[in-house]
Amino acid sequence: MQPVLMMAPFRGLSLKAYRQALARHIGGYDSYYAPFISGTGTTSIHPSKLVDLPAANDGGTTTIPQLISNRADEIILLGNALYERGYDELNWNLGCPFARIANKKRGCGLLPHPEEIERILDKVCRELKPRLSVKTRLGKTEPGEILRILPVFNQYPIKHIILHPRTGKQLYRGKARAEAFKECLKHSAHPLVYNGDIYHAGRLKKLQELLPGQRHWMLGRGALINPFLAREIRGHFISDNKKREGLEAFHRSLWEHAKGHIFPEKRQIGWMKALWHYLSGLFAHGEHLFCQIKRAQDSGEYLRAAHHAIAQEFAGDKGIEAHFMRLTR
Ligand SMILES: Cc1cc2nc3c(=O)[nH]c(=O)nc-3n(C[C@H](O)[C@H](O)[C@H](O)COP(=O)(O)O)c2cc1C
Repeated sequence: MQPVLMMAPFRGLSLKAYRQALARHIGGYDSYYAPFISGTGTTSIHPSKLVDLPAANDGGTTTIPQLISNRADEIILLGNALYERGYDELNWNLGCPFARIANKKRGCGLLPHPEEIERILDKVCRELKPRLSVKTRLGKTEPGEILRILPVFNQYPIKHIILHPRTGKQLYRGKARAEAFKECLKHSAHPLVYNGDIYHAGRLKKLQELLPGQRHWMLGRGALINPFLAREIRGHFISDNKKREGLEAFHRSLWEHAKGHIFPEKRQIGWMKALWHYLSGLFAHGEHLFCQIKRAQDSGEYLRAAHHAIAQEFAGDKGIEAHFMRLTR
């Protein structure tokens, strides 16, 4: 059974240029979820809100737009506008853990309020043209909150639920609770997509043993560390030389985007450094390489440090796992 592999959204990181470069130079994903859009309102949508979305099914790459909102009218307006542009799925973010969002009953902030989720779904599901999918967590503060939400979801036609088995309180720290995900499978009438702590193909194998029959997986920070993760999970053998070639092309595309679209120079390098916070874990001495990249003050210094890093030895599964663990501390 071939797994269905989705690339997770990362606000500020997996911009359109990142997703397109990944699809073009490396690939392996069935779909790419775009980071959330917010504040689109209920009257008209400002074009600047849609700049991160390519034409639907751009060059064979499936992009799924995501929205964060607690207003049915806003969800319907955006979803239907995107439907006219060819998008047939809208993802509703019910997982974002940051206080700025959650304290306003958005993202995971809605999870302690099943009745509000029901009120929103009731209206949205009557008027929304694209199919609705949801991305959520176990709860805002308690992992059991999800068990009061799933019966609400069960009443509505939801395409699938991407479940990241951490609570909002955990942010992205500690362990994702695969056992809790397993429990949720018993309570959901909709397909669940597993998302959390998949950092190499061996880790996915372990999760497959725990969750037999699970077909849909969303790859998160593991994919930012190792852009080849989806292809490795699919069993593709990629030699170190081919990897380096792919990485060089991927990096070149990212850098061209930064130079052409992000200003001033300090922010260009800032975006690249933010990506290297993860990508450095692909290399044997990643922490040291990341320090060198972080020190870069201008384009010349940045490129020297990045090219030096790409030429280094790869980390292997153990090194990648160690890097992931540092991110979850
Ligand atoms: C910097 C950052 C930005 C994120 N942005 C989004 C986002 O826009 N929408 C979303 O649904 N999740 C977002 N996430 C969550 C990830 O998509 C994913 O669910 C999370 O990393 C858990 O998976 P993992 O344990 O495999 O990394 C973000 C996470 C991080 C660390």
